[in-house]
Amino acid sequence: MWRPPQKIKWKPDPGRWPAAAEAARSRLFSPLAAGPLQLATRTWVPAMVPWRATDDGFVTQDNVDWYARFAAGRPGAIVVEATGIRDVPSGPLLRIGHDRFVPGLRRIVDAVHEASGGETKVFIQLIDFLAIRRRPEPVKYLGQHLRIGERHRAALGMAGADDAEVRARLLQLAPQDLEAVLDARELEALRMGARERVTDLHLPHIRALPQVLPDLFAGAARRAREAGFDGIELHYAHAYTMASFLSALNDRDDGYGATLEGRARLPLEVLRRVREAVGRDVVVGCRYLADECVAGGSGVDDATYFGVAFARAGMDFLSLSRGGKFDDAQQPAVGGSAYPYTGPSGYECMPHHVSDDKGPFGRNVLATTRIRAALREQGLATPVVLTGGMHGFAQAEALLAADEADVIGFARQSLADPDWFVKVRSGRGDAVGVCIYANYCEALDERHEQVTCQIWDRLALDEPGLRKSHDGKRRLLPPAWRP
Ligand SMILES: Cc1cc2nc3c(=O)[nH]c(=O)nc-3n(C[C@H](O)[C@H](O)[C@H](O)COP(=O)(O)O)c2cc1C
Repeated sequence: MWRPPQKIKWKPDPGRWPAAAEAARSRLFSPLAAGPLQLATRTWVPAMVPWRATDDGFVTQDNVDWYARFAAGRPGAIVVEATGIRDVPSGPLLRIGHDRFVPGLRRIVDAVHEASGGETKVFIQLIDFLAIRRRPEPVKYLGQHLRIGERHRAALGMAGADDAEVRARLLQLAPQDLEAVLDARELEALRMGARERVTDLHLPHIRALPQVLPDLFAGAARRAREAGFDGIELHYAHAYTMASFLSALNDRDDGYGATLEGRARLPLEVLRRVREAVGRDVVVGCRYLADECVAGGSGVDDATYFGVAFARAGMDFLSLSRGGKFDDAQQPAVGGSAYPYTGPSGYECMPHHVSDDKGPFGRNVLATTRIRAALREQGLATPVVLTGGMHGFAQAEALLAADEADVIGFARQSLADPDWFVKVRSGRGDAVGVCIYANYCEALDERHEQVTCQIWDRLALDEPGLRKSHDGKRRLLPPAWRP
């Protein structure tokens, strides 16, 4: 992962822990009631992919155990990992593109409700993503996949040459000399792996996204309701399709890009179809970016416009993230896939403890609170979930007490210790395993390996009946907390 050049080492600073009575009086552990969004506390576990689904997208016992383990800590809400809305293979990521996935997903819902004594609400994050290929062997790309055209012949001064001759010549060129022959997308395909964009209007399936996606999201939302989820989080963030529609880099000329209104159009149409599919009593919110953190991308002003539009259209919550884009991702190894959390925008999304003078904690606070303040100025009371480097009670409580956020998301901190909530609430903050923001979890995610935390994954490996990672070296869940 990219790190800021300043390389300042930050230590987590959870601050003072409250006694049980103080926690009981706090905003953080007070209920939230906003239309269908009813939370017992203002705490939230944002979506985190743990790489535990089957290769064809079904829920496994490991998925069920994972969410039950988080629910034992009794956060206000858990958002189940990004789950694909299409009925197409996508490796060991959860899927909801067909009714056959419903029974497995229902097991997660039941497990969360049971392990939390009915206290924790469980939402599911619905995602669509476009095709991305692995970085190819140059010999394969230049020798087979690249479509040879007159442009290449002209650049090489090889008019009349056949494809095989052109390929042979390309294979002889030094990497920098290829820049004079290949266009930007071809160079990207060679160096990073080819990646579709929502602006590829020459591709019929990309042009048709606005016609296809509302029904796909609505079908997935209906299945989520059937599986018993308390709510749905539309994934409009990071490197994926819907965020790309919102992006300032979306210059589609078909009414679904170019202007703020055009960029917001498909996300609003998806919301409308989803709402028709699930009705008013299921929570429907979205996760989107307070700032894309890439050159030419959307910033806080754009995100404010979107937030107001989403709130007016009836989103039940807005969960703000930042960055996490392919645009500035690092080059993967040959045979590997680009990962959208390896560049500066990825750093903004999941900041590491080696940072700049802003540090990794609360990096999304300013942008999120600005967006929320704009909503309130317009008389919109939609709850806003603030996430990013949150790990201390005082830090979270101060934001809520100052009326700068409604709910606090703890992603890596709850992975480090899913009992954070129950411990802090019962006056046992001293027992919290504090996240060190070393991004061990994020590195596992990048390698598509089962996600665990270095704080607990080597503890008590001889515990009877323990479920371990594929290599047998790590436990898959933190040990139970016995107060
Ligand atoms: C292993 C891992 C998987 C993640 N998967 C998702 C995901 O499926 N959807 C999503 O919106 N964010 C995902 N994230 C981002 C987190 O939800 C969160 O925004 C980010 O980690 C910053 O919050 P934190 O500082 O509290 O960890 C993931 C993060 C990690 C560490």
